[in-house]
Amino acid sequence: MAESKPRVWVSQPLFDDIVARLAEHFEVDATRDVTAWSPAQVAAKLGEVDGALVTLNERIGEDELAAAGRLRAVANVGVGYNNLDIGALESRGIVATNTPDVLTDTTADMAFALLMAAARRITEGERWLREGRWTQWSFDTLLGSDIHGSTLGILGMGRIGQGIARRGAHGFGMRVLYHNRSRLADGIERNCRADWVDFDTLLREADHLVLVLPYSPATRHVIDSTALAKMKPTATLTNIARGGLVDEVALADALAHGRLASAALDVFEGEPAVDPRLLALRNVVLTPHVGSASLATRRAMAALAVDNLVAALGRGPRAGRPPTPVTGVSSPGTGKR
Ligand code: DGY
Repeated sequence: MAESKPRVWVSQPLFDDIVARLAEHFEVDATRDVTAWSPAQVAAKLGEVDGALVTLNERIGEDELAAAGRLRAVANVGVGYNNLDIGALESRGIVATNTPDVLTDTTADMAFALLMAAARRITEGERWLREGRWTQWSFDTLLGSDIHGSTLGILGMGRIGQGIARRGAHGFGMRVLYHNRSRLADGIERNCRADWVDFDTLLREADHLVLVLPYSPATRHVIDSTALAKMKPTATLTNIARGGLVDEVALADALAHGRLASAALDVFEGEPAVDPRLLALRNVVLTPHVGSASLATRRAMAALAVDNLVAALGRGPRAGRPPTPVTGVSSPGTGKR
């Protein structure tokens, strides 16, 4: 009798041709439409499979794992994996993986697009024009702030942070400061033309502050009213990491009262819901968590997640050695960006 194939669940539609590779090894339960799975539905799905390929939409913690007796691997499509409880997975011997590297440059590009949109008031200008308010060219319409020659502050200096630093230093002649738990090696600092500073100095000196650090309970609301009060009123704030890094109420208040010039947010604490206070403001650029959303990069992320799942379940050329594991590594975080 033929051995039955392991079973895997793919929680959201990805690219059919890439997901099809799973069928060489597994019986595949692939979700056809974008679905908001409830925690109970996730738990039920995990209870039926040996492996799962999931996105940031699916939280996997103790409750979702309670009935997952045969689950051996979870492949997350994304570099951030704060949706996964790594301790709960590791204690059950379940391998988890993420998709770093393949999205670094695309996300660094997007950080710059957002930063520039905030600094030069691009989306605000477009709305103003579409509203029919442009009646005559005038000298002081929508004055923004410069990017070239300004100080770029980066909070979180992993791979994406370094990509942003290089774009700022080499492309726009910016002075680059960063803050990170650990200081980078001299060679990397030189390559990025970036200097380490303490958190308060970063807040005080940055003309454009970009958040790229992983989200965890320890970094929740790292940008709160106290931090915002230390920033220049002319500064911009860009968040492409996770919404929970910013106290959105404090940010909306600072933006509304001129204590911060503008912000650009790709991520939100309660996404897809966006705080109505932010929606009401003109000086904030809002995008729907699309930092890595180029076609080529999303395909590369899906392909890496598939490779991870195949290998983690002991199949394919890298059987037992998934390319980018996040369990069983020395200091699991929530996404080495
Ligand atoms: C990431 O890769 O972490 C993006 O936010 C999408 O999940």
